[in-house]
Amino acid sequence: MCGIVGYIGHKEAYPILINGLKRLEYRGYDSAGIALINGETRTYKCKGKVSDLESFIGNQNIKGNIGMGHTRWATHGEPNDVNAHPHISLNGHFTVIHNGIIENYDVLKKDLIKNGYTFKSETDTEVLANLIEYIYLKDESVTVEMAVRLALTKVIGAYGILVAAKEDTNMLIAARKGSPLVIGVGDGEYFFASDATPIVEHTKSVIYLDDDHMAIVERNSLTLKTIQNDVLEPEVTQIDLDIESIEKGGYEHFMLKEIFEQPNAIKDTFRGRVSERNKRIYLGGLHQALPKINNAKRMIIIGCGTSWHAGLVGEYLLEEYARIPVEVEYASEFRYRNPIINEDDVVIAISQSGETADTLAAIKLAKEKGATVIGICNVVGSSIPRETHAGVYTHAGPEIGVASTKAFTAQVAVLTMMSLMLGKERGNTNDDIYLQMIKAISSVPDYITKILEQNEKIQEIALKYKDASNFLYLGRGVLFPVALEGALKLKEISYIHAEGYPAAEMKHGPIALIDDKMPVVVIATKDKSYEKIVSNIQEVKARKGVVIAIVTEGDHVIKHLADHVIEIPDHHEAIAPLLTVIPLQLMSYYIAVARGCNVDQPRNLAKSVTVE
Ligand code: M6R
Repeated sequence: MCGIVGYIGHKEAYPILINGLKRLEYRGYDSAGIALINGETRTYKCKGKVSDLESFIGNQNIKGNIGMGHTRWATHGEPNDVNAHPHISLNGHFTVIHNGIIENYDVLKKDLIKNGYTFKSETDTEVLANLIEYIYLKDESVTVEMAVRLALTKVIGAYGILVAAKEDTNMLIAARKGSPLVIGVGDGEYFFASDATPIVEHTKSVIYLDDDHMAIVERNSLTLKTIQNDVLEPEVTQIDLDIESIEKGGYEHFMLKEIFEQPNAIKDTFRGRVSERNKRIYLGGLHQALPKINNAKRMIIIGCGTSWHAGLVGEYLLEEYARIPVEVEYASEFRYRNPIINEDDVVIAISQSGETADTLAAIKLAKEKGATVIGICNVVGSSIPRETHAGVYTHAGPEIGVASTKAFTAQVAVLTMMSLMLGKERGNTNDDIYLQMIKAISSVPDYITKILEQNEKIQEIALKYKDASNFLYLGRGVLFPVALEGALKLKEISYIHAEGYPAAEMKHGPIALIDDKMPVVVIATKDKSYEKIVSNIQEVKARKGVVIAIVTEGDHVIKHLADHVIEIPDHHEAIAPLLTVIPLQLMSYYIAVARGCNVDQPRNLAKSVTVE
């Protein structure tokens, strides 16, 4: 999704902006631009990557202590130089960069056209720039700040914006509704960004803008207001994010780094929550909501993409160990279908970024209907943790690769802990199982390390099938969502068509696809469905399909049936999702690299989907 950076201070803005845009590249984008302000405003923008923008700027004038930069992920109008941000109003009074979608842009545009405005781009952002200017020029008593405020009251939709005005070249205005904006507080300088990654190398002190708030910022002052003009006291918080953790650390891609970080990410997720010594699992973030959770008649898990898959794993675990009925819904469906929600329902919203627009809207709906809403989120201080009644951070560290890997396992780790903690609290998990499970959970980081040691073998298998056009992923029970996740990982980064299915469903349709060109990845570890999945493998082999099986160490039966086996350490059934997904992540990664795909920023995708 689009990214914003901005700077106002005593340093040269250009290097700060370009570097900041590079830090935001992981979000996914198709054009980039900057505006530099030095008495006058100069804008440079073009289709393509930040490096294309740098080449385009070349030796042109880059002087200025104030500026803004943007990476655009096209929503209104194709990716091209004209639609790239910043956008300048018709008479040059305002320069704007914008994340989000202005839903009533068409009505506003028609009104502006009636009033003599013409447009260069197809974007909703240019409409906003012109609307601010129109309001400003119409009435002499309207100041720059008032014009921005009044324009925003007319906007329906989502925005995170930075605005510069020709009349006051020592000021930037930032505003937010539904699209995140963070302001870094330095010494006589301020930094702006759509998430904290471009800011941390400059300062750890930040102000998170809330919805309907705007900041009027000069080098040495910041005034925070609502768009209704009520002055507010800014709250400066310290962020705990260091620059090393957002760099590649010697790996070729962020995705590979993040796959290999999983043993530590899971340890961090368990830290202070699972204690083998005290024989206890406790999620402090749920404490306040515990009476509600313990009395919940039903849980509804909402999320999108990989987070939705983690939710499906959670459904199996919560029902098995806590004995709570669970439903799992795509946030985008939930929010639009007038769901029946009762006050004794608990809604669990899962999100890596904490900014996914559909998940946020679904949370707001669930709250309006009286449910208790819990968040499971990776990005500290993002919108979802601030919108929910209680929650658990996953502590996986920054995930930069668009394809979610360590965030998924950390989400599943939280759901596993939650299932056991609630099983115990509600008296549904007996002491023996509880203690066995604490032991099992504690072994996950070491088991993942062992699986990662098979990296080269997995790469060899991957290379054999890099030219396949289709893949099928099969799993049963709690491993069915892992099959879905494996298929999603492959399709999003390698562009190979892949489908995940519950293995028993194969004979109701997908079996028709199987021939000697169809690789079928079967998650076939030793659990209560083992015999059944062995039969499924035989069915695939009988139709000459190629079987890549994920098996429990020492399995000799499947070794003789399958074309390839990847072994994972013998384990407790409940932690199987955390282990079996690892080879699937690696296989997708190596296939995508072999096909020459841009693994960290796959085409058309964005890391944080802040539009619906
Ligand atoms: O930040 P979120 O977890 O809310 O994001 C949800 C999905 O957009 C995300 O999981 C997406 O499916 C990933 N690209 C999957 O790898």
